[in-house]
Amino acid sequence: MPSISHAESPTESSARAASFVRSRLGSFLAVFPLAIWTVIHLWNNLAALSGPAAWETAVTSYPHPVAQLVTAIVVLLPLVLHMVWGIGRLLTSRPNNVSYNYYANLKYALQRITAVGVLLFLGAHIWLAMLRPRLVEGGPEPFADISHEMHFHLPTLIVYLVGTLGVAYHLANGLSTFCMGWGVVSSKRAMRRLDWVTIPLFLILLAMSWAVIYAMYQAGGGQAV
Ligand code: HEM
Repeated sequence: MPSISHAESPTESSARAASFVRSRLGSFLAVFPLAIWTVIHLWNNLAALSGPAAWETAVTSYPHPVAQLVTAIVVLLPLVLHMVWGIGRLLTSRPNNVSYNYYANLKYALQRITAVGVLLFLGAHIWLAMLRPRLVEGGPEPFADISHEMHFHLPTLIVYLVGTLGVAYHLANGLSTFCMGWGVVSSKRAMRRLDWVTIPLFLILLAMSWAVIYAMYQAGGGQAV
């Protein structure tokens, strides 16, 4: 029997339009500016390989307080909006790789698992490396402190190693779902080809992160306990 069509009321259609905009925004902000900023942040952190002064100039110094405020807004606001969108997606969609053990489903499940890990990691990282030093201790995080923690506090080392692994996966795989969502790629073949970009990207991000951690660990070992 043909179903009786139900004309959408203005309230229903504006709710649907609002939900569409929210979902597009959550996805868009994940790449512009979040993913781009994350890559720049990792690149700046590589200055740890050149010593404390180079790291502090590249990572924690700002030419003007306004530049610092703008950076905080440009990064933290999109992060919060993406997180709200992401938590919504986590609550409404379920992985089905238990019934279908396909590669794509594994990636889908890992994207969600790393989302939770990245949420916890960024909560700790933003508080301990950014907000607490500036708001409670009255200045940016000194290289001596973070490298000391990295060498002598095992939980810090483990959290950074695992947290950056999660960020590298979430960003690289997220870029491929972004390309699918926005129609940059559509055929199955094109999606497979995208792996040639996202897998090296994952490995490069991981190598950058772990190189920074290694440099800090080494520098921390040179300090008195
Ligand atoms: C460094 C910070 C982060 C970056 C760079 C980032 C990046 C991305 C990217 C590029 C995507 C793909 C978007 C798309 O498919 O259109 C994505 C998806 C996702 N993100 Fe994040 N993200 C970050 C943090 C977080 C956090 C803290 C959460 C916490 C809930 C989160 C939850 C999610 C979820 C659930 C998805 C999958 C959405 C879906 O495909 O349905 N993300 N992220």
